[in-house]
Amino acid sequence: MKTSEIAAIVLAAGKGTRMKSDLPKVLHAVAGRPMIHHVLAAVDTLDAARCVVVVGPDTDAVAAAVAPHPTVVQTERLGTAHAVRMAQGAFDGFDRGTVFILFGDTPLITAGTLRRMIEARAAGAAVVILGFRPDHPTGYGRLLLGRDGLLEAIVEDRDATDAQRAVGLCNGGVMAVDAATLFPLVERIGKNNAKGEYYLTDIVGLARADGLDCAVVEVDADEIMGCDSRADLARAEAIWQRARRKRALDEGATLIDPDSVWFSFDTELGRDVIIGPHVVFGPGVTVRNGVHIHPYSHLDGATVGEGAVVGPFARLRPGADIGKDAHIGNFVEVKNSVLGEGVKANHLSYIGDSDVGAGTNVGAGTITCNYDGYNKHRTVIGKSVFIGSNTALVAPVKIGDGAIVGAGSTVVQDVPKDALTIARGRQVDLPDYAGPLREKLAAEKRAREKDKK
Ligand code: UD1
Repeated sequence: MKTSEIAAIVLAAGKGTRMKSDLPKVLHAVAGRPMIHHVLAAVDTLDAARCVVVVGPDTDAVAAAVAPHPTVVQTERLGTAHAVRMAQGAFDGFDRGTVFILFGDTPLITAGTLRRMIEARAAGAAVVILGFRPDHPTGYGRLLLGRDGLLEAIVEDRDATDAQRAVGLCNGGVMAVDAATLFPLVERIGKNNAKGEYYLTDIVGLARADGLDCAVVEVDADEIMGCDSRADLARAEAIWQRARRKRALDEGATLIDPDSVWFSFDTELGRDVIIGPHVVFGPGVTVRNGVHIHPYSHLDGATVGEGAVVGPFARLRPGADIGKDAHIGNFVEVKNSVLGEGVKANHLSYIGDSDVGAGTNVGAGTITCNYDGYNKHRTVIGKSVFIGSNTALVAPVKIGDGAIVGAGSTVVQDVPKDALTIARGRQVDLPDYAGPLREKLAAEKRAREKDKK
């Protein structure tokens, strides 16, 4: 089946009240990305010709988040079949191929599973249902199979007989339906059931009545889990992280304590990367080959060049571009800065809105003062510069190649190439003054204590 013959409807009109949140349910994140984006990413991998998201009223935030995917609004929440009908107008002329129906709150669904469903469609089933066997089936629709093993009907938990409730195979909620039959079948779905809703699941019984084949593709229960509550969200996160850690190990990274490393949906790791315990990757991080990240480092929106060493306790914020073989040590924060090859900033520094040339050494406690309370300014440090400890570089300021800045300097004007710059109060030494000073202070203290008595 050509990918141009794939389309999708993602249902996201649920209120998500159990999240107890001002944020719409599907925008809650797993691995640093809203749940619905995980679902859309799986669909996008199939190169779907159209993908429409059904949202509830007053959910502009969802529409904005899923753009450019179009949205349609389901003003009344009358059931999953009703939600699908809301999208019908967006499918004019799409009458060949497969339409997927997915839920926006199942972030762990994979493109591989959707491809297996396309294969089942290609094998002749008009309707393919994603099935799973949960430990506790209560609440899920049960998949009723005929003697031939083909799917005959889905019965919702509330409407099921005791015998039907004993069935362990459940509806995961994802469907792949023949584009030509989807809407004609959905139009025939009524709401004569315990909940009085238009159940999309009735499509199976209707298809069978028309002599169409329906099939089940089974997946692991974890992959199809829906997230209705914060507890569900935490469980989905744990499942996602477990899988990502395994992938990192399989692809040639050493994770000293895998369970304490947290990845984002888009973390990119090279080979022979070593990651210590308690390292957290926010979104947008690329780590190149041979990098060593020591414990308790937090990286977000950063790129770390080949062979660089980061941490322990380093913080790389968005726009941190760390050069090959650079060293970023403990309690060093880097933001929106490009650090060249071999740069060393090993202790207690803030480097923000800066360019630092190759081979430069940034001494302990150096701060780029990038913000004047109103605007951000850049600090440009050349190659092979030595910045002494506890230096404040008041931006905008440039330090020329090869310069040496003395410890404790507050640099407010540009430093020429190869200059030695010392910008601090001069030291004053008074020879043999310490002893008399001590005697004077001790006498004063004795006088005070006598007065008190
Ligand atoms: C549904 C299935 C059930 C399956 C279960 C898997 C139906 C009738 N039942 O039940 O067989 O085992 O999912 O999780 O489909 N939604 C809308 N508009 C609506 C109703 C629902 O957009 O009017 C969306 C919800 O946001 C949600 C999804 O559809 O993402 C599922 O809806 P929900 O009512 O939670 O269905 P379940 O009772 O879980």
